[in-house]
Amino acid sequence: MKLSPAVLAGSLAVRQEIDYNSAPPNLSSLANSSLFETWRPKAHVLPPFGQIGDPCMHYTDPETGLFHVGWLHLGAAGATTDDLVTYHDLNPDGQPFIVAGGTNDPIAVFDGSVIPSGIDGKPTLLYTSVSYLPIQWTIQYTRGSETQSLAVSSDGGRNFTKLEHGPVIPSPPFAVNVTGFRDPYVFQNSQLDSSLGSAPGTWYVVISGGVHGEGPSLFLYRQYDPEFQYWEELGQWWHEPANTTWGSGSWAGRWGFNFEVANIFSLDENGYDVEGEIFTTLGAEWSLDPIVPQVSDFREMLWAAGNLSCEDGKVEFVPSMAGKLDWGTSAYAAAGKELPATSKASEKSGAPDRFISYVWLTGDFYGTLDFPTDQQNWTGALLLPRELSVGKISNVVDNALVRETGSWRVTSKNSGVVELATMKQVIAREALAALTSSDSFVEPGRTLSSSGVVPFQQLPQSKFHVITTSISFPRACRGGNLRAGFQILSSEHESTTIYYQFSNESIIVDRSNSSAAAKTTNGIDSRNEAGRLRLFDVVQDGQHRVESLNLTIVIDNSIVEVHANGRFALSTWARSWYASSKEIRFFHDGEGEVTFGDVTVHEGLYDAWPART
Ligand SMILES: *[C@@H]1O[C@H](CO)[C@@H](O)[C@H](O)[C@H]1NC(C)=O
Ligand SMILES: *[C@@H]1O[C@H](CO)[C@@H](O)[C@H](O)[C@H]1NC(C)=O
Ligand SMILES: *[C@@H]1O[C@H](CO)[C@@H](O)[C@H](O)[C@H]1NC(C)=O
Ligand SMILES: *[C@@H]1O[C@H](CO)[C@@H](O)[C@H](O)[C@H]1NC(C)=O
Ligand SMILES: *[C@@H]1O[C@H](CO)[C@@H](O)[C@H](O)[C@H]1NC(C)=O
Ligand SMILES: *[C@@H]1O[C@H](CO)[C@@H](O)[C@H](O)[C@H]1NC(C)=O
Ligand SMILES: *[C@@H]1O[C@H](CO)[C@@H](O)[C@H](O)[C@H]1NC(C)=O
Ligand SMILES: *[C@@H]1O[C@H](CO)[C@@H](O)[C@H](O)[C@H]1NC(C)=O
Ligand SMILES: *[C@@H]1O[C@H](CO)[C@@H](O)[C@H](O)[C@H]1NC(C)=O
Ligand SMILES: *[C@@H]1O[C@H](CO)[C@@H](O)[C@H](O)[C@H]1NC(C)=O
Repeated sequence: MKLSPAVLAGSLAVRQEIDYNSAPPNLSSLANSSLFETWRPKAHVLPPFGQIGDPCMHYTDPETGLFHVGWLHLGAAGATTDDLVTYHDLNPDGQPFIVAGGTNDPIAVFDGSVIPSGIDGKPTLLYTSVSYLPIQWTIQYTRGSETQSLAVSSDGGRNFTKLEHGPVIPSPPFAVNVTGFRDPYVFQNSQLDSSLGSAPGTWYVVISGGVHGEGPSLFLYRQYDPEFQYWEELGQWWHEPANTTWGSGSWAGRWGFNFEVANIFSLDENGYDVEGEIFTTLGAEWSLDPIVPQVSDFREMLWAAGNLSCEDGKVEFVPSMAGKLDWGTSAYAAAGKELPATSKASEKSGAPDRFISYVWLTGDFYGTLDFPTDQQNWTGALLLPRELSVGKISNVVDNALVRETGSWRVTSKNSGVVELATMKQVIAREALAALTSSDSFVEPGRTLSSSGVVPFQQLPQSKFHVITTSISFPRACRGGNLRAGFQILSSEHESTTIYYQFSNESIIVDRSNSSAAAKTTNGIDSRNEAGRLRLFDVVQDGQHRVESLNLTIVIDNSIVEVHANGRFALSTWARSWYASSKEIRFFHDGEGEVTFGDVTVHEGLYDAWPART
């Protein structure tokens, strides 16, 4: 039997004394590990204890069909899954499969990616090997601090052995004064093969970074030899001027000064397609201080789709639409991988080739909050796996709302009606099916026309549940002051309000009353979160209507994921304290009549870690 971390820390007695029916003490004064269970999620990916960093290094093992999900943790650690629902740690206690301290990486192992059948047909990791710190786009770059090195696994991914030679990409391009040069992402792409005259199936790498004084960039490389020893430099295939935006900046934040964690992949309407439209997910870093920024104040988790242009053998990525993969300010560093139809998970669910992405949710705002970390003994998690594909929005009225430079593009026009393309993102089908297959109850829908909250007739049993509904608004709401949605994790003491607000087309998560602990304890973030979602005018039954707002809200104790209309996600923490804070209420504020469809509440979620005790 393995004792739980709380017992090992000798704090079980202390934990039992915590009273979730009265006001919290200053939580920083409690014993180590005493808050271990308080806010711990069930269905999300995180290590058995300690801090999780960027997700990375995922792959499907061709021999077993298991999908390996990786993340930075004491180096890098991971787990396997055969259904995207339950996970099994690769090593006991979640120990790492690679650690820093080699010749190439004396200081740290940063993000990397895996060629599933690489050297000798084995899983081959290309990762950033770190020799000097600090590294920050705001300061001068120390030469040689980030190089890209190889490691190979011969034991099913439990250990990646570093090759006994120097880095295979030993420096940034000649005389380029970089702001960063890390997170190599390996991929295949048939458009690049034909533009560059490469053999079909050639591997490429993008490395994320930027250039001092010029702005963020992605550096492109091409495989040169079958042993992956040499990578041919193809320049900055994507560069944006420093601190600029896509369109007005409303839909995709700022490109910032430095790119991080870029993934490149290609999608069609079913999922992953090596011949499909080129997409990227990437992090952008920027700050407010124009004179001497000391740190990155902002990190934005973006996506973009684009076209390839090719002139004189130089390829360039030209964005055609861009948006946010997640609007939560703690959501960052997404890493995805193609999941073939032949994987165990897809064989069971019958899914086609897919692209699955995991987003990191930092637990202490990138280490900047004075959170009671020792008391909790874990920090951060990965968000639920998402399937990305090309999404279509049909029967959209051709008016000013569609003509902005946004997170969509017009694909066809036909007498006043257009079809839009965007990036579709939904919770992976297996995870969503498991989340919504548990006991559920239905709260009858209703129409509300005056401000106030209306409690649900039934209470969920716990702080682990999923809420699904569809909300419709009359056209007169546009431009008005209407806000409507739900209060969750609510009681007489606390509540978190999630609503759509027409004035600036935003979904807001108001956390000002989320946690009684925020009043006694440092580091419990109560700032609002906001993300932009445009509800287009659509033609329905011959009438012009506002597109309905379809919400799937996953509440996994303290993690709240808000998914809307297959193209919007905002994830954050809401750390309610009181045991009674699990009520749900309808919320209406301002003028206008709102119709809530039937609301289904799925109880309990699932345990993603059945083998952990
Ligand atoms: C966290 O849990 C691990 C594993 O149980 C334990 O070894 C460690 O001491 C704990 N750390 C703190 C700060 O409680
Ligand atoms: C609590 O954990 C911290 C960090 O691991 C450690 O330095 C400290 O000694 C622990 N306190 C007790 C009372 O064990
Ligand atoms: C991985 O294998 C190498 C070489 O066999 C060994 O030195 C190392 O300790 C192992 N690493 C881990 C994390 O098990
Ligand atoms: C690189 O950029 C930094 C920051 O702007 C600057 O201090 C440094 O002089 C530049 N180095 C070179 C070789 O241009
Ligand atoms: C980036 O642009 C924003 C918006 O104009 C501005 O507030 C900020 O100061 C700029 N940052 C830097 C470092 O120049
Ligand atoms: C860019 O790609 C999209 C999707 O493949 C295509 O519809 C569009 O015509 C392309 N645009 C340009 C300028 O080539
Ligand atoms: C938060 O609580 C205060 C005091 O109870 C109340 O006045 C306010 O309306 C609440 N805010 C939200 C967003 O619920
Ligand atoms: C809670 O206690 C910690 C550690 O003793 C202290 O630093 C902090 O200021 C206290 N926070 C509040 C809000 O009183
Ligand atoms: C919309 O306005 C609210 C204030 O009412 C603000 O908090 C929020 O950040 C805005 N939305 C976006 C996406 O900026
Ligand atoms: C939203 O839900 C309604 C009712 O279930 C459905 O008819 C509609 O197609 C959904 N729209 C989107 C964008 O998912």
